[in-house]
Amino acid sequence: MTNVVVIGCQWGDEGKGKLVDYLSGKADVIVRFQGGNNAGHTIVIDEKVFKLSLLPSGIIREGKISVIGNGVVLDPWALRTEIDTLSELGINVTRSNLIVAENVPLILSFHKTLDLLREKKAGSKKIGTTGRGIGPAYEDKVGRRAIRLSDLDRPRYLHSRLERCLEHHNILRNGYGEPIIEVEDIEKELADISPFIKQFSAPVWEVLDEKNREGKNILFEGAQGSFLDVDFGTYPFVTSSNTLAGAASLGTGVSARKIDFVLGVVKAYTTRVGEGPFPTELKHDQIGLHLETVGHEKGTVTGRNRRCGWFDAALVKQSCIVNGVEGIAITKLDVLDGLKELKICTGYEMNGKLRPYLPSSINSSEIVKPVYEKIEGWTEPTRGINSLKELPRKALAYLKRIEELVGCPISFVSTSPEREDLVDLNDPFKKNEK
Ligand code: IMP
Repeated sequence: MTNVVVIGCQWGDEGKGKLVDYLSGKADVIVRFQGGNNAGHTIVIDEKVFKLSLLPSGIIREGKISVIGNGVVLDPWALRTEIDTLSELGINVTRSNLIVAENVPLILSFHKTLDLLREKKAGSKKIGTTGRGIGPAYEDKVGRRAIRLSDLDRPRYLHSRLERCLEHHNILRNGYGEPIIEVEDIEKELADISPFIKQFSAPVWEVLDEKNREGKNILFEGAQGSFLDVDFGTYPFVTSSNTLAGAASLGTGVSARKIDFVLGVVKAYTTRVGEGPFPTELKHDQIGLHLETVGHEKGTVTGRNRRCGWFDAALVKQSCIVNGVEGIAITKLDVLDGLKELKICTGYEMNGKLRPYLPSSINSSEIVKPVYEKIEGWTEPTRGINSLKELPRKALAYLKRIEELVGCPISFVSTSPEREDLVDLNDPFKKNEK
């Protein structure tokens, strides 16, 4: 039995989907533990592109069990659409390969409305959310007024829960000039989706405990990235869940003591979607444009262009510490092919002082100047290489320097979106094989 957590060490979109897909070959169960359909995981197999948002990436593989844990906020309509799209691509999702935590909070139509209304109202001060209702759904969870999957089994209880929840939302809607919602409206919406979603409901904590006792391998698939974490991210420009590895335990009911390995995924450079601080951002200069076009840096969920910049070792080092990362996977190395000179950020200069980490709050008027180390680029192509020996000498030097600066060994290097194009140096499942 080995339990491995995969998380992103930057601002999301690090290429976790490919690593999870690769590792799910050896896992029996693949689990999402936080976030919702704000995530976007792209997996390419034989040039066939699978875009997943809510389902664990393991769903693509036959014979695996995919799990959506209680730490997720679940939009059942989005799940149905995703399952229908996969079915068109020849992948069938049924109760035999998907279970959903009975205590998962649901994203309902008014959560999305509120998310969009708030962003619109905030104007230039907006967060740049995905507009999927994630924030409002998590607010209802901690506000103790969320509707959870198991509530759908008890109509009278559901009615009283909806009354409680809508009492809150109608006050807000009134303030925004939106029409009031009646409990019956939401009951009608839920009646349409209930039979579909209820078939997947299960006590996930118990199922995972059983799997562990049977000696099965479990892979926990993080969404977003460490600097979008609601506690450790660039607050308030963050998502509303804890994205760090520790959330794998609370978001599923598997004890933290049972986690064997944390793999941190990083891009060979940095990207970010939405608003918020990004010290190494290249704006729209030639290199920024190179990263954006060669790296196809467009958001999977919203289609927005991702902001691009140099690799930030100070940021990733902090992420490795707070997540307990034991190995990093570097993705998209090939995107740097042909760049003459590369830069790695090793810290920041703020108000004349050097800082090794980003401060927990940055005023928009404060200037955070990255401190760079220059490194020679390489001209030879790395795309498709799957052994360290074949990598250009200068690319190896770049990787080595990253390893030194972030203080964590490299477990994988990815050189293209394809499943096979991966240098495997330390597979955590293999390492822990008994
Ligand atoms: P929300 O999660 O939709 O509330 O959005 C909050 C912030 O997190 C925004 O800046 C989004 O762009 C960002 N975000 C949410 N999910 C992802 C993701 O999967 N990848 C990258 N950024 C994300």
